[in-house]
Amino acid sequence: MMRVGLLVTHIRAEEKALIAAFEAAGVQPDVILDRDVNIDLNAGAGQIAPSGYAWSDYGLIVERCVSTSRGLYLLAVFATWGIPTVNDYQTAAVCADKVRTTLALAEQGIAQPQTRLAFTPDSAIEAIEAVGYPAVLKPATGSWGRLLARVNDRESAEAIIEHRQTLGDYNHHTYYVQAYVAKPQRDIRAFVVGDQTVCAIYRHAEHWITNTARGGSASNCAVTPELDAICRSAARAVGGGVLAVDLLETPAGDLLVNEINHTMEFRNSSAPTGVDIAQVAVAYMLEQMRVIA
Ligand SMILES: Nc1ncnc2c1ncn2[C@@H]1O[C@H](COP(=O)(O)OP(=O)(O)O)[C@@H](O)[C@H]1O
Ligand SMILES: [Mg+2]
Repeated sequence: MMRVGLLVTHIRAEEKALIAAFEAAGVQPDVILDRDVNIDLNAGAGQIAPSGYAWSDYGLIVERCVSTSRGLYLLAVFATWGIPTVNDYQTAAVCADKVRTTLALAEQGIAQPQTRLAFTPDSAIEAIEAVGYPAVLKPATGSWGRLLARVNDRESAEAIIEHRQTLGDYNHHTYYVQAYVAKPQRDIRAFVVGDQTVCAIYRHAEHWITNTARGGSASNCAVTPELDAICRSAARAVGGGVLAVDLLETPAGDLLVNEINHTMEFRNSSAPTGVDIAQVAVAYMLEQMRVIA
């Protein structure tokens, strides 16, 4: 039996739930802290991991780093070494980048907000005016609703762009510009594991940014055939795995995919949905495990 590694920055509620679910399935995962990692990139998987086992002893590594860049680099290493991971490197790399996610969804014709890409102040203004006011500016990489800006007019567009040019690093000179979707005071987060939409929540908030990390509250959202279909297509478009698909509802009631998260938070979601998300995720993860004679 090969080992399971749980690669984390620290043990949050989600990682606790995953460990409990692995234990319930008869597997004791090794917790590997990303801060302890020190890998010889020229050597292979035979080198020793912080757990004391060789990396090659792992039949599966579950990536749950808080830092997207640490997670992505380590997934790239494990992909090169042929160690199965959840999520896999390709899926994580697409989900970690809103530009790549939008492209992947567009390629499959999946409904999403109108979105443009620009790199300079002048072209960013043109992009904003092409989608119209209000527009939404987002960092191409980032989460928890940080540094999102709703731009209501030309003057605030110019001010935000000047701040990003002057105070931001080069990451903030990539302008990901979206049309504002006049959604109800909520969005939808659906949990997709493999090819199954497991459950979904509404995230309610007074603020237009409805992330529960920013104080939004969660309630159950029924998985209708329509929601199920768009979520499974969206997950497939980015490569599939254990994913949280975020959607916005238009005033006409249509669903648009907003983004897809590859190291999803779900601590607030098992109670309202009644679904043990960790258990479903772990069952899928164990299916991805490399089996070696
Ligand atoms: N184009 C948009 N129109 C309306 N609301 C949006 C739009 N984009 C984002 N939001 C709101 O902001 C929240 C965070 O945006 P999101 O793109 O998911 O960024 P993050 O990766 O930081 O979570 C969403 O959950 C939604 O409530
Ligand atoms: Mg989000």
